[in-house]
Amino acid sequence: MFVFLTLLILCWGLNDGFPHPKPKCDRCDENFACDCTSSNLQEVPDISTSVKSLDLSFNEIKTIRQDDFCDYTHLEILILRSNIISSIAEEGFSTLNKLEVLDLSDNQLNYLSEAWFDRLSSLKHLNVLGNRYETLGKGSLFRSMTKLSTLMVGNQFLVSVFESTFIGLNHLQSFVLYGSNLKSYQPGSFSQMTSISEVTVSINGPFQRNMTLTTAILRDLSRPEARLILSDLRISREQLMPFQELFRRGIRKILLRNLTCSTDTIVFLFGMTQQSILTSVGLEDCEFYGEPTLSLDFPKLDFVTEIYIKDVKLEKFYNFPAFHSISSLINLLKNIKRVALIDSNVFAMPHETTYLLINVEYMDLSRNQFTDLTLREALCAGQFSICLPSIKVFNISSNYIRSFNTLSHLFQGMKRLTALDVSLNVFHTMPQVCVWPQTLRYLNLSSCRLREVTVCIPKTLHVLDLSYNDLTTLDLSYNNLTTFQHNMPNLTELHLSGNRLKTLPGGKHFAHLEVLYIKGNPLISFSGKQMSNYSSLMVMEAGTDTYVCSCEFVNFFKYELGHLVRLKDRKQAYICNSPFELRGKEVADAQLSVFECHAPLAFSLLCATVLVFVISAMVMCHKLHIIWYLQMTWAWVQAKRRPAARKDKVCYDAFVSYSERDAEWVEELLVPELEGAEPPFRLCLHKRDFLPGGWIADSIMAAIEKSQRTLFIVSQHFVQSDWCRYELEYSHFRLFDAGSDAAILILLEPIPDSTIPKRFCKLRKVMNSRTYLEWPEDDSDKPRFWQSLRDTLRM
Ligand SMILES: *[C@@H]1O[C@H](CO)[C@@H](O)[C@H](O)[C@H]1NC(C)=O
Ligand SMILES: *[C@@H]1O[C@H](CO)[C@@H](O)[C@H](O)[C@H]1NC(C)=O
Ligand SMILES: *[C@@H]1O[C@H](CO)[C@@H](O)[C@H](O)[C@H]1NC(C)=O
Ligand SMILES: *[C@@H]1O[C@H](CO)[C@@H](O)[C@H](O)[C@H]1NC(C)=O
Ligand SMILES: *[C@@H]1O[C@H](CO)[C@@H](O)[C@H](O)[C@H]1NC(C)=O
Ligand SMILES: *[C@@H]1O[C@H](CO)[C@@H](O)[C@H](O)[C@H]1NC(C)=O
Ligand SMILES: *[C@@H]1O[C@H](CO)[C@@H](O)[C@H](O)[C@H]1NC(C)=O
Repeated sequence: MFVFLTLLILCWGLNDGFPHPKPKCDRCDENFACDCTSSNLQEVPDISTSVKSLDLSFNEIKTIRQDDFCDYTHLEILILRSNIISSIAEEGFSTLNKLEVLDLSDNQLNYLSEAWFDRLSSLKHLNVLGNRYETLGKGSLFRSMTKLSTLMVGNQFLVSVFESTFIGLNHLQSFVLYGSNLKSYQPGSFSQMTSISEVTVSINGPFQRNMTLTTAILRDLSRPEARLILSDLRISREQLMPFQELFRRGIRKILLRNLTCSTDTIVFLFGMTQQSILTSVGLEDCEFYGEPTLSLDFPKLDFVTEIYIKDVKLEKFYNFPAFHSISSLINLLKNIKRVALIDSNVFAMPHETTYLLINVEYMDLSRNQFTDLTLREALCAGQFSICLPSIKVFNISSNYIRSFNTLSHLFQGMKRLTALDVSLNVFHTMPQVCVWPQTLRYLNLSSCRLREVTVCIPKTLHVLDLSYNDLTTLDLSYNNLTTFQHNMPNLTELHLSGNRLKTLPGGKHFAHLEVLYIKGNPLISFSGKQMSNYSSLMVMEAGTDTYVCSCEFVNFFKYELGHLVRLKDRKQAYICNSPFELRGKEVADAQLSVFECHAPLAFSLLCATVLVFVISAMVMCHKLHIIWYLQMTWAWVQAKRRPAARKDKVCYDAFVSYSERDAEWVEELLVPELEGAEPPFRLCLHKRDFLPGGWIADSIMAAIEKSQRTLFIVSQHFVQSDWCRYELEYSHFRLFDAGSDAAILILLEPIPDSTIPKRFCKLRKVMNSRTYLEWPEDDSDKPRFWQSLRDTLRM
């Protein structure tokens, strides 16, 4: 007990001293991408050292130690978002010189250290949003990251930005700053990022508190060539001052995201754009409240070519000032090339407006409330010769369009249309014949509850999306239209995911298909033969859990598919549904037995083996006379069971055992000689005395038993007769039983030992051990022969 306790305490003590094992994470795929999110990890787990991409978001990691990543030198993507990291060792990332993406957002870092980023020379994307640091430091934090193209910094605690921080960021493309509590900014800091193309700033606080500060920041960020995204503003008319500076400095592209202000404020802001050279204006997730009091003198905006409006809510949209005249609208709209009006509860658009959109190439009306009727109105009431003459891309996704007929009718005149997105409407069916612009390359019919597709689908397409419908077949054989041509010769990308297809569609319709998405269908299997008809296929995504894991399919999947196409989804997504024992298993892991895999071969082998066995058994039986021996044994056993014949049962003097061929001798010489003797011998001859019917072996045995002796007429014929041998054997058994001298041999002709077959060993034995009577050749010797025979029988 004492020893045990000591050991226990000792172990306890030691345990504390050793580093405890690191947690494990085994959710890695074949591309060495590991997904270890939401796993309650408190430290960096132990994983394969070949890991290339590691996602550790939503765990409880507190600290990054010096050796946490030192083995993972191949790491390219490291996501540490939403942990509680408050400290990172100076050398924590020093081995990761291949790292391209580092995400440290939403942690508890109090400061950012130059030393962490010192060796990250390949880094392209860095996100340190949402921590607790108040400054980016006075040194040049990002100096060594010469390839950095995306940088995201800031949080609600950030108060100051220094000029030195941004030294060396010459290749930065995209910059995100969250600084709602920014209090001091060293002018010129942001102007060092010379090649920037998109800036997102969230500086509501400075807008509220310090115009000087805000103007300084915006001045440095306004580049003619960069898009400025100002987000999370909640401003009043008086706080619009900094915009003046922006417009004056010639900013061209501006997007206001998550802006909340009064209707008057936004109208006022529009007015300010009068002097600008804006080309692109956008409003996203905005809310305008209150009734307008200002009248809207619509600005000229001669340069604007792009209008992007998404999820904009007008509290009193019905009071929104109407445009003064159509002419001011003409000025606004005639130059527009791209217009998006997304998710803004638009349900109608007068066709007079559409007429003005003569230069529009891209139009996105997705997620609104257009119906067949209002869309028809919006698209010039079907007068397609004058409607949207320049349109190339049209998006009417997620509206209330019901009639496919109307749809194809409305677009048939748009001679330049290349892309049409009508996804997320409800069609159910489509007509048999449609007319489309010859230029159409892209058609998105995803999530339209289509139950069938017809030849209405334009043949000119390059990309067709039919995913998430209710299709059970995809039959696009235009057999009566073009007999020998491929049906969609230019289709390169086909989306069929989330339907109810059980097999791959016939590949011969799509001679140039390169990418096929067909996951989430109740697919049963596919074969090399089917795949061979997709002559250009390179990428496929077909994961589902309904595969019938036959040998053919499993082998094809494991060993051949990889040579034909690249799977876009993980191999783990391909799951067997049957046979039962493989249900739920990955196809790549399925193990099938030889019997399942080569059933015909295995069964023919089995049958052949059985056949060979049976045949050889039969041959053996025949050769070794096994049947005969069995019969023999059976008879013997029967005889043993019968009570021994009693003396009074004996009714013959001798049973004559002879071969049929010696019948003449027996019947003409032996029988008359013996039965004619004085007193006559009673002989039993099977020919004469056996009762008809009954088993011959039984009769023989009975006869032998009823006879005092057995006479064996031995000749070459006898030796060859099985019955004779049987009789001999039996009488031999009886010899043992009776112990008497029951067998008498008569040799009709000399029989050399060698001519007696092996199985007649009994006969040999008998012949060797017993004297026998020889049938003399010489007539003069015959009386003596008969005499000795009679004597022997009388003995
Ligand atoms: C506004 O910001 C400027 C520049 O950072 C600063 O000099 C000034 O003191 C600030 N004003 C107020 C009222 O905080
Ligand atoms: C929108 O901006 C307000 C501040 O103006 C902020 O509180 C809110 O979180 C923002 N919403 C989103 C979705 O970012
Ligand atoms: C159409 O709009 C939807 C929803 O806004 C979007 O997901 C889709 O990408 C757009 N399609 C095209 C071709 O731009
Ligand atoms: C088709 O539309 C759906 C829904 O808007 C979208 O998710 C999908 O990406 C689109 N397909 C293609 C190929 O762009
Ligand atoms: C397919 O593309 C070729 C070459 O761009 C073009 O000549 C042919 O007309 C196209 N076929 C269809 C059916 O659009
Ligand atoms: C093709 O066949 C369908 C039905 O088999 C028929 O309705 C259609 O008119 C035919 N099209 C042409 C062009 O012959
Ligand atoms: C492949 O295409 C040929 C004709 O191009 C067709 O006869 C054959 O049935 C197709 N095979 C499969 C498996 O679809």
